[in-house]
Amino acid sequence: MSVRRLPLNANLGPLAALHAACFADAWDARALADLLAIPGTFAISSDDGFILARATADEAEILTLAVTPTARRHGLGRALVTEAASQAQQSGAAAMFLEVALDNAAARALYTSLGFAEAGRRKGYYARPGSSPEDALILRSNLPLSPLGKTTPSG
Ligand SMILES: CC(C)(COP(=O)(O)OP(=O)(O)OC[C@H]1O[C@@H](n2cnc3c(N)ncnc32)[C@H](O)[C@@H]1OP(=O)(O)O)[C@@H](O)C(=O)NCCC(=O)NCCS
Repeated sequence: MSVRRLPLNANLGPLAALHAACFADAWDARALADLLAIPGTFAISSDDGFILARATADEAEILTLAVTPTARRHGLGRALVTEAASQAQQSGAAAMFLEVALDNAAARALYTSLGFAEAGRRKGYYARPGSSPEDALILRSNLPLSPLGKTTPSG
């Protein structure tokens, strides 16, 4: 699974298109550029998905993660989170956080498989036009990640 850090001068149009394919409340290229201008913010991408994360002092945060619908369930989401966690750790982060909607079963399963666990909850955080707002779960993992099912070498 080939993912790479996005160069500073990259065209953000393809990332904005990926975001629009994944979220109703999509971030355009300008919004992505504004986020990437904040110190510690970086993107890891492939043709079919990307992750935006920020590492500040000893903590890191996933800002968004998007895999285009036709490319899902082939390991790209896991590869993007794993690479972002690795790069955040290299920048000095010891823990990683993110927010995910309570009803986002796919993303929750992905993060749980990578060892993230619930650290808090924001009631009614996500507005849902036509229905009641959904809670956000705050998930946290130490770095390096400890994916479920992987044993730590001992001795
Ligand atoms: C969440 C998302 C990034 C996952 O990307 P992906 O490339 O399909 O994920 P992967 O193929 O790496 O899946 C890794 C694991 O996550 C879990 N998973 C992923 N999608 C799942 C689904 N639809 N249902 C259940 N488990 C799922 C599985 O454990 C999977 O491992 P497996 O395929 O070996 O069973 C993708 O569905 C997406 O872009 N969704 C819309 C945007 C979004 O919700 N972003 C996250 C916001 S916090």
